[in-house]
Amino acid sequence: MIGHTFGPMSRGDSDDEMFGKLYDINVIKRISPYIWRYKKYSAIGAICTLLSASLAVLIPYFIKIGIDDYINNPNIGIASQKSGLIKISLIFGLTMFAAWVTNYIGQIYLARVGQYTLRDIRIDMFSHLLKLNLNYFQKTKSGSIMSRLMGDTSQLQESFSIVVMTLADILTLVGICATLLIMNFKIGISSLSVVPLLFIAVVLWQPVAKRAFIAVRIAISQVLSSFSENLNGIKEVQNFNREDNNNKNFNIKTKDHLNSALKAQKLSSALLPPVDILTSTALIIAAFVASKLILNDAAAIGVIIASVLYIQRLFDPIRNLMMQYTQIQRSMASGSRLFEFLDIKKSINKLEINMPENIIKGEVEFKNFHFAYDNNIEVLTDINMNIQKGSTVAFIGDTGAGKTTLASLITGLYPPNKDKGKLSIDKIPIEKYSRSDLGSQIAMVLQDPFLFQGSLKDNLKFNHQSATDEEIINACKSIGIHDYIISLENGYDTSVSERGVNMSQGQRQLMGFARALIKNPKILILDEATSNIDSISEQKIQNALKVLFKNRTSIIIAHRLSTIKLSDNIFVIRGGRIAEQGNHSKLMSLKKEYYKFTESSFQN
Ligand SMILES: Nc1ncnc2c1ncn2[C@@H]1O[C@H](COP(=O)(O)OP(=O)(O)O)[C@@H](O)[C@H]1O
Ligand SMILES: [Mg+2]
Repeated sequence: MIGHTFGPMSRGDSDDEMFGKLYDINVIKRISPYIWRYKKYSAIGAICTLLSASLAVLIPYFIKIGIDDYINNPNIGIASQKSGLIKISLIFGLTMFAAWVTNYIGQIYLARVGQYTLRDIRIDMFSHLLKLNLNYFQKTKSGSIMSRLMGDTSQLQESFSIVVMTLADILTLVGICATLLIMNFKIGISSLSVVPLLFIAVVLWQPVAKRAFIAVRIAISQVLSSFSENLNGIKEVQNFNREDNNNKNFNIKTKDHLNSALKAQKLSSALLPPVDILTSTALIIAAFVASKLILNDAAAIGVIIASVLYIQRLFDPIRNLMMQYTQIQRSMASGSRLFEFLDIKKSINKLEINMPENIIKGEVEFKNFHFAYDNNIEVLTDINMNIQKGSTVAFIGDTGAGKTTLASLITGLYPPNKDKGKLSIDKIPIEKYSRSDLGSQIAMVLQDPFLFQGSLKDNLKFNHQSATDEEIINACKSIGIHDYIISLENGYDTSVSERGVNMSQGQRQLMGFARALIKNPKILILDEATSNIDSISEQKIQNALKVLFKNRTSIIIAHRLSTIKLSDNIFVIRGGRIAEQGNHSKLMSLKKEYYKFTESSFQN
């Protein structure tokens, strides 16, 4: 019960949010279509499980028939006693077997529905994730996204089989009570009289236990987030020599978790003794009532034996129901978190990047343009900028000036704000282009290009799947990374997981350049893509850049003077505004912002 305790804890800590309601119509509505896809399996699973429960209820009753109708029946002869016993034993055996088989089939099919549903929901979540607005990722910790994708879905996976199991337990409970009462009302009613006591025990136990389980959840999420934070920040941890400190913190958190888990376990076990005591009490009451009835010849011995067997079974379904109660609540909570995630608005409606419909030539224009992210704080103010097709321009400015924002807007990653000026490519407003138009013709190379699982070749043709080997090799040669790649044992087929981490930042950067060159975009943006490559010679970078900038509009956000000098036009961005623009010699002669920049940041 304490095992799967994933879940984003940043959100509300109220009981309902932690544990969910028993019955959340929205979750049921949303999950039903998934289960409906496997309606045949679901039906088989449910029917078999319920059938198995009903058959199991019958078994003690056959013992009663065997004893009362045959063994202990003086009214029939030995021969018919024997044949009757054989018959009832056969029925008994067959019923046991059938109960076992139906239970087996039921479990298998329920598990199947669970696994298929789980897979479908994960696929939907993943494809949803890929299309979410980038703002979402800025706001949300990757740990909590992961816990939704993994933890909450697996929580939900069990929900259907738990619901069926709950039905089966209710059926068993009703069956046992009814049979007890029908066989002998006095024995039945007197032994069932302890059941209300059990319910009282449960009602008293529930809130205390719930608090303990919530404490466990909070504690484990602290442990997990501490784990993932240190994982993500391992470089900082080691650089700043924080190992011992963080270790101590982590130990405190695991200790908290251990204590709360032990406490919850104690509470969870605390319910067992009362259940056992009440079972025994019910048996004692039944024995007492039965002995009186036998003396008066008012009950048969078989009824009494069967009643005892039923009473022993009575508490299993009750105990199961209690367990399932919390599990269903938890599934509902996971379900509502999960569907809440699936309801987050997508920003990108079409992700596949095929052939563009509108061929881009590469002229970019901002006109009286203002921009604010979701938080409505204006980060770009009155931008007027004209970038000629095929030209090379540079954005320079302090951190936070708005350079990356400006560049991201051109790629279409963020839609412009409504009525806040114009951004157009080839004189057509950017809103008129599809994702596919922009995605296939504009490329952005970042400071630390991400290499995906797969071979180097896979990574090089990541943006252009149909690239031929020849194209790839030519691109790598002109960028200057070919020699390095063929020096590796497996050349272009070297897998990134083996080598990726061992590549220097400079080599990864050149990989990013080669990837961009293979894509052959009409507009290329390098966002501080040259600031970290000291391991590669200046000359090599200059050569690579010259190749890259040929035949396309190129925008470089740069720190290096040598790179900036390559550009036809330089925009100095300050506080979200264009402070100066012009080419190197013009801006130098102005002796203002740009001049100061070259003095301070580049020359040393
Ligand atoms: N996704 C975002 N949501 C809200 N504000 C953002 C986001 N990205 C950047 N900003 C803000 O926009 C401003 C410009 O950032 P950015 O374009 O990254 O600057 P630069 O690339 O010049 O360092 C900063 O104040 C930054 O805090
Ligand atoms: Mg930036």
